[in-house]
Amino acid sequence: MILIKEPNAMHDYVNASKRTGKRIGFVPTMGFLHAGHTSLASLCRTRESCDEVIMSIFVNPLQFGPQEDYEKYPRDMDRDTSIAEKAGVDVLFVPDASAMYPAAARTKVEVEEMSQALCGVSRPTHFRGVTTVVAKLLNIVNPDVAAFGQKDAQQFFILQRMVADLNMPVQLVMAPIVREADGLAMSSRNVYLNEEERKQALSLSRALVMAHQMIEKGETKPAVIIQRMTAIIRQQPLAKIDYVAIVETENLQPIQTIQSPALIALAVLFGKTRLIDNIII
Ligand code: PAF
Repeated sequence: MILIKEPNAMHDYVNASKRTGKRIGFVPTMGFLHAGHTSLASLCRTRESCDEVIMSIFVNPLQFGPQEDYEKYPRDMDRDTSIAEKAGVDVLFVPDASAMYPAAARTKVEVEEMSQALCGVSRPTHFRGVTTVVAKLLNIVNPDVAAFGQKDAQQFFILQRMVADLNMPVQLVMAPIVREADGLAMSSRNVYLNEEERKQALSLSRALVMAHQMIEKGETKPAVIIQRMTAIIRQQPLAKIDYVAIVETENLQPIQTIQSPALIALAVLFGKTRLIDNIII
C-alpha cells in the first residue's frame, strides 16, 4: 500500500493510473476505521470492478461545529494503516489540514435546503463542511466511483445532489449499514459510549426494526410510525431524541404517506454522544 500526503502527488498518481486504463474506486473517511469502512473498499473492488482502491483519511475541521468533538475525534494512524492494508486498499491519501485548506482559501460548496433538513437543524454548518471537503477530494482523486455508507444516508443524498448539480464525472455508490452483532450501527464515535449508554443505544435499531415491521403490516402514516419509534427510544432514560423523521430520499422533505423510496432516520444523544441510524424503504 502506498501512502500519499500531498494533494498534487495524489492527483498525479491517479492521472498516471488512469492513462493505463485503470478504473479507480475511492473511499473517503475520517479514519478510526471499522468494518463499515472496509466494506466500502471491498464494494469498490468487487461489485464496482475497480482496479485500484484509494482511501482518504482526513478529519475534516470544516464539518465540526464550534462545540463539537473535532479535537477529541478518535485518531490512530498506525491502526488505520494496518486495517486499510488488510482491506486491500492500494493507496492511502492522508493530507494535512493546511494542504486541504490553505490560509487563502475562500470557497465553500453548499447544497441548499437538503443541508438544513434532519441533522442540519442541530448541525447547521455540518453539511457545508462535508460537501466542501468531498468536492475537493473528488477533484484531487478524480475517481470513477466513490463509495459511502448508508449510515450517513443524508450525507449520501446531499452528495448525490452536489455531483449532479456540478456535473462531476463520478458515480456515487452506497453500501449497506454494517452493524455489531447486537444491532448497533458501526460508527467511529461508538467508542465514546459507556457500558450503560451502549446498552440503551440498542433502542435505535429496535425502533427502526419496529418501523419496518409496521410498514410490512400495511401502516402508511408516518406520524403513527414516528410515535411508536419515539416511544421505544424514550423508554431509555439516557436517550435524548434530536429527531425521528420519515422523508423523501430525493429532497429530504417529510412525506405524508409511506411510499418508496423513503428514508426513516433518527438522531439521538446518549450523554454527549450523538448517534444516527436509518433504514431506507
Ligand atoms: O462520512 C465521513 O466519514 C465524512 O463525512 C467524509 C465523507 C469522509 C467527509 O469528511
